[in-house]
Amino acid sequence: MDKEISFSNVNHVYEPDSPLAKLALDNVNLTINRGSFTAIIGHTGSGKSTLAQHINALIKPTSGSIQVGAYEITNHTTNKNLKRFRQHVGMVFQFPEKQLFAETVIKDVMFGPQNYGQTPADAQQAAIAALKLVNIDEELFEKSPFDLSGGQMRRVAIAGVLAMNPEILILDEPTAGLDPEGHREIMTLVKN
Ligand SMILES: Nc1ncnc2c1ncn2[C@@H]1O[C@H](COP(=O)(O)OP(=O)(O)OP(=O)(O)O)[C@@H](O)[C@H]1O
Ligand SMILES: [Mg+2]
Repeated sequence: MDKEISFSNVNHVYEPDSPLAKLALDNVNLTINRGSFTAIIGHTGSGKSTLAQHINALIKPTSGSIQVGAYEITNHTTNKNLKRFRQHVGMVFQFPEKQLFAETVIKDVMFGPQNYGQTPADAQQAAIAALKLVNIDEELFEKSPFDLSGGQMRRVAIAGVLAMNPEILILDEPTAGLDPEGHREIMTLVKN
């Protein structure tokens, strides 16, 4: 299988050169193959979110490098050329429903594709397809995202990332805080 993501000697220090300096990633080396499904487990504070956020260059390594497809991310990578890259790597944060903001479900999901330059009509099509994928009923499309259940809100937030058609999807604790039913829904969705 092709290698899609690899970390080489990655260190990440939060607040370097301060008394609060914290080595969150300590010489991480890993490879994730194209087409694979990988889970990362570890105690609270062990660095899972820190690691995940390196994959879309939201944070950069203090030293070492990360290869994602054709892109290389190092300490010297600037944000200038990362827009296309970020479209390639979809990131669903922990409690993604906190990022919902639009007046309606459909507008919320259309935001990403529009922000990346799609026409409103194309963005709407992408949003409808993504909402179908996460099993959100059409009758909810014009509702406020804030009137939905916790599990529905989370699925709408995930649809917002899927609508950009990323090649890599990162989910940071996608089932945190959901009841068993919501948990099952999300895991089924991830498998699909
Ligand atoms: N912005 C930050 N500034 C300083 N230290 C941080 C920051 N973010 C995380 N840390 C520290 O880095 C370490 C790794 O944190 P991280 O959030 O990556 O862990 P995690 O495995 O995702 O934990 P959890 O399971 O609780 O989500 C922790 O010690 C944390 O306190
Ligand atoms: Mg975390």
